[in-house]
Amino acid sequence: MFRLSTLAALLLATYSANADQFAIKASANVAHSADTLLLLVSPDQLNTNPQLAAISKQENFSAEHGKTLTWLAPAAPYAQYQRVVLVGAGESELLTPYQVSLLGSTVAHSLLNSAAHTIQLDSTLLQSAIAQPELLAQLSHGINLASYTFNRYHTDDEPEKIRNIYLLSRELTATEQRLAQINALTEGVVLARNLINEPANGIYPETFVKQALELRKLGAKVTVLDQAALKKAGMGAHLAVGQGSQRPPYLVIVHWEGSKQQPLALVGKGITFDTGGYNLKTQADTLLRMTSDMAGAAAVLGTMHTLAKQKAPVNVVGLMALAENMISDRAYLPGDVITAGNGKTIEIINTDAEGRLVMADALWYAEQNFKPRAIVDIATLTGSKVTALGAYYAGMFSKDEQLVAQLTQAGVTVQEKVWRLPLTDEMLPELKSRIADLRNTGSTTGASTAALFLQQFVTDTPFAHLDIAGNALSSSNKGLHTEGGTGFGVRLLTEWVLTQQ
Ligand code: BES
Ligand code: MN
Ligand code: ZN
Repeated sequence: MFRLSTLAALLLATYSANADQFAIKASANVAHSADTLLLLVSPDQLNTNPQLAAISKQENFSAEHGKTLTWLAPAAPYAQYQRVVLVGAGESELLTPYQVSLLGSTVAHSLLNSAAHTIQLDSTLLQSAIAQPELLAQLSHGINLASYTFNRYHTDDEPEKIRNIYLLSRELTATEQRLAQINALTEGVVLARNLINEPANGIYPETFVKQALELRKLGAKVTVLDQAALKKAGMGAHLAVGQGSQRPPYLVIVHWEGSKQQPLALVGKGITFDTGGYNLKTQADTLLRMTSDMAGAAAVLGTMHTLAKQKAPVNVVGLMALAENMISDRAYLPGDVITAGNGKTIEIINTDAEGRLVMADALWYAEQNFKPRAIVDIATLTGSKVTALGAYYAGMFSKDEQLVAQLTQAGVTVQEKVWRLPLTDEMLPELKSRIADLRNTGSTTGASTAALFLQQFVTDTPFAHLDIAGNALSSSNKGLHTEGGTGFGVRLLTEWVLTQQ
């Protein structure tokens, strides 16, 4: 037990420290101690300053979005700095909040590659339609997310020296308030990334539950259903997936009741490792990626963290279905018939189609116990989705046009995009079993039949399923992402929830 709680504490320590390669503060005045001046510039504004215009011309810098120019040992009036970094914003009237967060990413990469230590950031040259508090908050979000690292297992890493960034602000109070809000979002993403990056001997159902319990400190209600409670509730599908592992399954529920309206429900797939079970995954690289098969649950926990930390005026319940899909003499077998919480019997055609089984029970439980206004689930559910959409989009499946429109819009806003794929009863014959009510795979084993399987466990609540297989891990540092866990879904779900008030 001691070991477990130490791990939980360490992970939390890690997740706050890792967002802190930079300490970012708003200030009303120019910091005198700064060694570096960061100037955000657009092509037009650049030309109104003859000195900057001359330097830019000489260096072929056109203030294109995401381009930088470092001017070492600058002349007056910048002589007090060791360097001035011009950060191109492109046409500033056209900037969106997301594009500003990308500029934050540019800033982070540029600073991490330099000896800059104390940084003054000045965005006042920009003539953007975005209010200054929002602009500075998005920059800060991008700086923190793009400088994220997961280094708790590197024993020889030097401790990072924290660099200070001062954001020059003419609306200090509003900027500080907006920064506090967006920092809660950054923390939610970082929490999800840490959980995803943590290997299966660090995060398994019990240690994931410990992480969820931490949200009590933020005033959320956390309920844990252990194996006995799952049995009592009759959730035989979730139990079947978990029964092969020494590490028992859990359903953990985080409830943030920031308003008295009918709740929204978020349901996440939390397979802490997916061997495939007796339908063993045989491709080494696919198997290795299965430490991220709890990315849906991580996105739900990250979102709940954000909402609770923000004290958002919303009523949201997050359910995370946790299990390890293993091989052992107790594991479920192909051909087994199991009974889900809703009483339906399922013939196991393939033990590797485990995600839909744990999700089926969690969806049923969410609808029965919380009577939500809408249910959105998020899961690394199928390889078929990866083939169809890769990392470009999450697959979205829903019969509810309103939910489809809302999630599409939220995805565009935060650039965690979703693309609708079919969810249609036309495919139901594929899920018919000779000996049970349902089979756990369709004959075409696709993302759509998986979604249709899930739909069988929601009766009359507006429901959308997000398949994020392919979105959970990034292969490079690109945009707001760093290599490894992306935390995909935290920004999307938070945006969706906050626009549903
Ligand atoms: N966790 C996998 C899906 C997955 C694959 C996620 C690749 C990320 C990358 C899921 O549990 C799975 O194994 N799905 C099978 C289902 C099939 C056996 C019907 C699949 O899609 O191959
Ligand atoms: Mn699987
Ligand atoms: Zn899986």
